Amino acid sequence: MPTVDTSSSSPGWAGEQSALRLVEVVQNLSLARDLDTVIDIVRRAARRLCQADGATFVLREGDFCHYVNEDAIGPLWKGQRFPLGSCISGWAMTHGRATAIKDIYADERIPHDVYRVTFVKSLVMVPIRAESPIGAIGIYWAQRHAATDAEIELLQALGNSASVAMENVLLYRDLERRVAERTEQLAAANRELETFAYSVSHDLQAPLRHITSYSELLAKEHPEALDEESRAWLGRIHHAAGTMAQLIQSLLRLSRFTRVELRRTRVDLSRIARELAKLLRDEGPERVAEIEIAEGLTVEGDEELLRVVLQNLLANAWKFTSRRDTARISVGMQQPPGGATAYFVRDNGAGFDPGHAERLFGPFQRLHSAKEFPGTGIGLATVKRIVHRHGGVVWAEAAVDEGATFFFTLGEIEPAVPDRPASA
Ligand SMILES: Nc1ncnc2c1ncn2[C@@H]1O[C@H](COP(=O)(O)OP(=O)(O)OP(=O)(O)O)[C@@H](O)[C@H]1O
Ligand SMILES: [Mg+2]
Repeated sequence: MPTVDTSSSSPGWAGEQSALRLVEVVQNLSLARDLDTVIDIVRRAARRLCQADGATFVLREGDFCHYVNEDAIGPLWKGQRFPLGSCISGWAMTHGRATAIKDIYADERIPHDVYRVTFVKSLVMVPIRAESPIGAIGIYWAQRHAATDAEIELLQALGNSASVAMENVLLYRDLERRVAERTEQLAAANRELETFAYSVSHDLQAPLRHITSYSELLAKEHPEALDEESRAWLGRIHHAAGTMAQLIQSLLRLSRFTRVELRRTRVDLSRIARELAKLLRDEGPERVAEIEIAEGLTVEGDEELLRVVLQNLLANAWKFTSRRDTARISVGMQQPPGGATAYFVRDNGAGFDPGHAERLFGPFQRLHSAKEFPGTGIGLATVKRIVHRHGGVVWAEAAVDEGATFFFTLGEIEPAVPDRPASA
């Protein structure tokens, strides 16, 4: 707001000041997201803009006027309801126009008994929204006061802004409700897919066991019935069934991370990373590796699952640096301004084309051949699922042959998916 010299005494000054105040009120109203805030802003502004002794905010409720709130030197009718036909706010709403009354006791539209217990001598009442009004704003004076056209216009301008603000609140509410509904639909669809994937994987195991055991039985019990080529083909069938069993096991393991109930505790990621790094070094004592782990990476989450996250990320870093003379791996934390804390695992290994980074988090997605670097492609899908369960996100930065960094954040823990759909 521009600074103003209040000592000025030019004739239009009071009007200018009121206009400036009105602009400020309209700005505040445009930010209001609920009806209570709108009412609060309006009742204060109405009194202040016209320098009156009191103001009321009235809502139309069917055939009644509800005096929802007020701001006044003495009590008015806050919380009370009057029939539309027996009070002046009802008159303003049914006629869709403002009215100013200098002496309320000389006006027949006023229920005098209701006013006698108050300080009110004069008033102005304006409708909120010209077309089928939804409410009204009243301002009151303790001394007789003939309201000027400027005062009435100012109050009507406030009424119009209040009407826009109330419509915005309704729109906003509707939008929020629709977003919530949509999110719930998506979550339900996701849960169903999860359950479906789990059931399918689970039910595929039995016929697969039959394939494996009968192919074994055939090779063992009736070797004379098979020539060399048939035996080779049977071997392939057996091998393929074994691979499929492994894939199913991976899917079921992945599914477990969606279904298990999370236990939230304080988790020291630095300690876990050190333990995992030691295991990796024991696995490949001949390798030269510099592993740097930042101290004090403590978070809230499920320790067992966060260990699985670090285990997968560190195992990848270890695997994809296996062709480096010196592997450099670091585990640390980044705090972007205004953003959530991100934890990362960085390496100087084979890296990958960053254009494919998103894809890697899907099950069985791999960018390197199994010959080059072994694996099934389930590790990062597991990481993503666990991080999501913790209300976080995961992403990667990399370049071909220049190493990779995997980041994740953590937030609020999500509930587990039930074993079977609710309707089943
Ligand atoms: N640190 C990394 N450097 C380079 N590429 C990586 C790295 N981590 C993952 N990738 C790429 O992402 C793919 C998927 O990783 P993910 O951990 O899911 O599977 P995997 O390691 O191949 O197998 P699994 O983890 O199931 O044993 C990898 O095959 C590789 O192409
Ligand atoms: Mg992996």
